[in-house]
Amino acid sequence: MTESIRKTSDKVSVDEKKIINNDKIVDVNQLVPIKYKWAWEYYLDACANHWMPQEVSMQKDIEQWKDPKGFTDDERRVIKRNLGFFSTADTIVANNVVLAIFKFVDNPECRQYLFRQAFEEAIHIHSYQYIIESLSLDDGEIFNMYREVKSIYDKDEFEMKLTEDITRDGFESRSTEGKKKLLNNLIGYYAIMEGIFFYSGFVMLLSFNRTNRLVGACEQIQYILRDESMHMNFGLDMVKAIIEENKDIWTEEFQKEIVDMIKEAVELECAYAKDCLPSGVLGLNSDMIREYIQHIADRRLEKLNLPKQYGSDNPFPWMSEIIDLRKEKNFFETRVTEYQVGGTLEW
Ligand SMILES: [Fe+2]
Ligand SMILES: [Fe+2]
Repeated sequence: MTESIRKTSDKVSVDEKKIINNDKIVDVNQLVPIKYKWAWEYYLDACANHWMPQEVSMQKDIEQWKDPKGFTDDERRVIKRNLGFFSTADTIVANNVVLAIFKFVDNPECRQYLFRQAFEEAIHIHSYQYIIESLSLDDGEIFNMYREVKSIYDKDEFEMKLTEDITRDGFESRSTEGKKKLLNNLIGYYAIMEGIFFYSGFVMLLSFNRTNRLVGACEQIQYILRDESMHMNFGLDMVKAIIEENKDIWTEEFQKEIVDMIKEAVELECAYAKDCLPSGVLGLNSDMIREYIQHIADRRLEKLNLPKQYGSDNPFPWMSEIIDLRKEKNFFETRVTEYQVGGTLEW
């Protein structure tokens, strides 16, 4: 007999459900009755966007990459550096979801989305591996960049400290201090890693698509960007719900701490962009990326009901179109059906 199931005929009531610190008063195994309908909707939307990397042909990319005239040296550097960042960044995010966030978010509706997010991160890791392998890049060079290239190391170090903070022995999420540390982690990953640190790389890589190069890699990155945009929106909705249920933590001082954390992240991201684009490619330069990073940082702050810090314009309006990409506009229309057929077992 297990002691972990509370034996009772009491039924779970939505009013008792919370995002964190349910402490088994509300059984984590009971999805229904659903209190957080938004979390369930995110889960359904994410499932509707399902895709797999190997469905996308890399043939054209491979031919272009092998052609000595296909890319300039600066362009090859930009591509390799961004693949270097992304190849390990999604692993860091996935580990944080599974080992850190999942442990403390004990609401079943939110966990249902986290199960899905973890799988999507596995798909993203797979996708970068597939791109790197297809282009026959030196995996020792690419996968080790986060330990060798300072601008990548700095971003990852910033994130991994946040994971360590809440996975170390003795951490608890009931005290005000503990709840703040948990929010630092959630904002550090959902607003900063997935909402800011990924964006220079997305702009740089997707720019090649605009010159009809790296089309296979870019198709996958468009789907990743759409997934990441959903992760971020889910995460920040969850953060707002936690604040709503734990108003004691959202002091002016703590809000300022969050704004400062986001400003620090913007600088790390700008340093990364500068490092990737020392002399500019494809009409991009690090000043334009700075403007873009500041623009999106303001959007993340607004989403958290915090004051905008920059007031910069969006120099890449085409990025918004990609984020809003609907499955009806691309191959998903047919692929979704194929999943349903392909998923039927033959006996
Ligand atoms: Fe991801
Ligand atoms: Fe993500």
